[in-house]
Amino acid sequence: MLNEQHLRDPKLPRKGIILAGGAGTRLHPITRGISKQLIPVYDKPMVYYPLSVLMLAGIREILLISTPDDIGGFRRLLGNGEQWGISISYAEQANPNGLPEAFIIAEDFLAGSASALILGDNIFYGHGFSSQLRGASEQSSGATVFAYPVSNPQRYGVIEFDESGQAIGLEEKPQSPRSKYAITGLYFFDTDACEVARNLTPSKRGELEIVDLIGHYLSHQSLHVEQFGRGFAWLDTGTRDSLLDACNFVAAIEKRQGLKIGCPEEIAWRNNWIASAQLTQLGDMMNNDYGRYLIELVGATERD
Ligand code: DAU
Repeated sequence: MLNEQHLRDPKLPRKGIILAGGAGTRLHPITRGISKQLIPVYDKPMVYYPLSVLMLAGIREILLISTPDDIGGFRRLLGNGEQWGISISYAEQANPNGLPEAFIIAEDFLAGSASALILGDNIFYGHGFSSQLRGASEQSSGATVFAYPVSNPQRYGVIEFDESGQAIGLEEKPQSPRSKYAITGLYFFDTDACEVARNLTPSKRGELEIVDLIGHYLSHQSLHVEQFGRGFAWLDTGTRDSLLDACNFVAAIEKRQGLKIGCPEEIAWRNNWIASAQLTQLGDMMNNDYGRYLIELVGATERD
């Protein structure tokens, strides 16, 4: 049922959804006792990375969706978000019925706002990313997705382009991909997404498919596709080896630059959502390198 009381208003601030459910079977036994999105990627829990992406996009109201078993762990970790000047609320997904179900679960939360959905296991890093995010967030109509060339497109949602670079087709995990461009797990939608999601039907594998939701926008000529170039990193965390690669990647960059990737405390402070005193207090609560990093940010001369 369309929630008629939710007046859809493109001028309302965009809200964020982190989808962090699923069974994580590919990482068993690691994920038998803990949600995949709570395990560490080098120096912080995996979910910090997608949360940071939403914060970089300027989004302050966030819904985290996970399984009934795992939701408590996320609540303990992230709380209500106040410590970072944002608001985080929680909802359960009883079964992994597909990514678009996030919009059915989130309909009351969104209450007529446009949205950004990010998968809790996706890690992004690269120059110019923040401005690309802000650009996508400012689009008031249509949907924006991000394409990334990969060597194994069979594993992903794939987007096909014509010679002029116009998107012309979408397929989920095709056996014979028509392009090497995967669709990453970050999606910006206008206020129609909930209604479109409610009208989708499950695919042959019994799930609502994100490519069908995106396909609605493609068929209405309202799909924007941004491409990430060669210098950009979109990291997979789906297998033991790709998880290890992601940990090593984050460690290499952080050690080299002395700057953290996916640090919500730092982003909150740079966005002026928390004051320097609050950042110092957050740092003081952790008697380790992570805490010292936060404290030293305040000591540095300027916010760049
Ligand atoms: O990572 C990008 C890819 O993510 C896209 O290219 C694909 O189009 C998209 O379908 C998705 O593919 P995956 O193979 O990664 O989907 P998976 O079913 O593994 O789910 C992705 C994450 O979302 C995973 O951490 C579990 C979580 N999830 C998944 C489903 C289906 C949920 O929380 N609920 C769900 O219902």
